[in-house]
Amino acid sequence: MAFSSSSNPEELTFPEGFGWGASTAAYQVEGGWDADGKGPNVWDTFTHQGGDRVFRNQTADVACGSYTLWEEDLKCIKQLGLTHYRFSLSWSRLLPDGTTGFINQKGNCFLKIEGIDYYNKMIDDLLANGVIPIVTLYHFDLPQHLEDQGGWKTGAIVEVFDAYAQFCFGTFGDRVKLWITINEPNVLAVLAYEKGLFPPGVPNLGTGAYQTAHNMIKAHAKAWHSYDSLFRKKQNGQVSIALFSPWVEPSNPTSIADQEAAKRVMTMALDSFAKPIFIDGDYPAELKSRVAAMSKKQGYPSSRLPEFTEEEKKMIKGSADFFVIHYYTSALAQHQENSGGELNILKDIEVEIFPDPSWQVSHPGSWVRVVPWGLRKLLKYIKDTYNNPVIYITENGFPQGDPAPLDDTRRWEYFRQTIQELYKAIHLDKVNLQLYCVWSLLDNFEWTEGYSFKFGLYQVDFENPALPRVPYKSAMEYAKVIQNNGIKGSL
Ligand code: NOJ
Repeated sequence: MAFSSSSNPEELTFPEGFGWGASTAAYQVEGGWDADGKGPNVWDTFTHQGGDRVFRNQTADVACGSYTLWEEDLKCIKQLGLTHYRFSLSWSRLLPDGTTGFINQKGNCFLKIEGIDYYNKMIDDLLANGVIPIVTLYHFDLPQHLEDQGGWKTGAIVEVFDAYAQFCFGTFGDRVKLWITINEPNVLAVLAYEKGLFPPGVPNLGTGAYQTAHNMIKAHAKAWHSYDSLFRKKQNGQVSIALFSPWVEPSNPTSIADQEAAKRVMTMALDSFAKPIFIDGDYPAELKSRVAAMSKKQGYPSSRLPEFTEEEKKMIKGSADFFVIHYYTSALAQHQENSGGELNILKDIEVEIFPDPSWQVSHPGSWVRVVPWGLRKLLKYIKDTYNNPVIYITENGFPQGDPAPLDDTRRWEYFRQTIQELYKAIHLDKVNLQLYCVWSLLDNFEWTEGYSFKFGLYQVDFENPALPRVPYKSAMEYAKVIQNNGIKGSL
């Protein structure tokens, strides 16, 4: 019996210099929520208020304890052999009220700056071990003081964010060369300000996401320009913004209406941020006309989608040095008319989205359906839509439920398939993908899911005050991939 050669696994070697990383975010791992002068952020407030908005009212007051256990994290990073480590700065650890008017400094004689020291040590240790830091300025943890003043709902935050960004570039940019301004503004705008599931916890259907996304895009662009004009020449780094996107397929592949619906979801989820930033400074035309028409029907005096001025468009256009994408799962879309004028952003584009029931869930109750091939399609979409940019994937992951077995064979199979899809994207589709990071280095505080979703390559025993880190099987397998700069698989 003859076997086709394609069923035999072969070495799929990645291009030389390909980056293999893992990611975390400050609030999810650090703990030390009020240590050494740190100011409260919106998640501190939200979790302390209780009210069953977070799984078992859990908090990240302690989380993985990374604020004091950095050395333990570093051991994991070294054991994996990561080329890159992505982490975020806690804005209110550096600037307790979010403004540069007050920098967190302990003692008043020699200006020993606690937050700064913590991140300096991380950056220095990474570099000393040959690991490239990728630093996110803001990962969902807005200083509470800024939220109290209206947060992302106000245009004033654009300047405040820029001042914070400049402070970080100035303080760490001699060593940090890869910056992400805002983590997943497209997710944050919807979960926090449209649905009210994330702090500040107030839903604003049909308006909250547009209003806050608008200010986030401007804040990002302004910070990019500050880097470009004030720091780039000397520091020679690069700045981008991290966008989350599902891959979306038509529910009925032969229905033109569903095909168009799937495209509209991509337009809303990804292009409404990426097109202004990477193409022309403005929102997609279809989104503008649909929101304007629906707003009119609903009796609004003007579109609920704000407009950029010509000057803002110029500022936003081209304000990223590489394309950062986060992928977890895919969805199906169906055209669904909104004849009643229902108010919410998906109704603006007249779609319903849902998973294909044949796609497996990562674990019962999870929103992650296992669709590794969706990432290849998404990468090709980005290549074709955004002029073949350099792409970094700074998040991709598979959560396990609680308890999570150390022998996470099913999860490793997901990563293996995903990495195989990346290889195809690079070699067959000629996508300019240069980095892949797993979310996450550690099991950590998964926002409203608390500690019930385990995304880590390392298990953290949250019941044990020492918070020991133990590698899952996936960590050991990932280390081999990194060492070989590739994986055994087939095309
Ligand atoms: C994206 C977010 O950036 C991260 O904070 C979160 O934990 C993962 N997705 C998993 O949901």
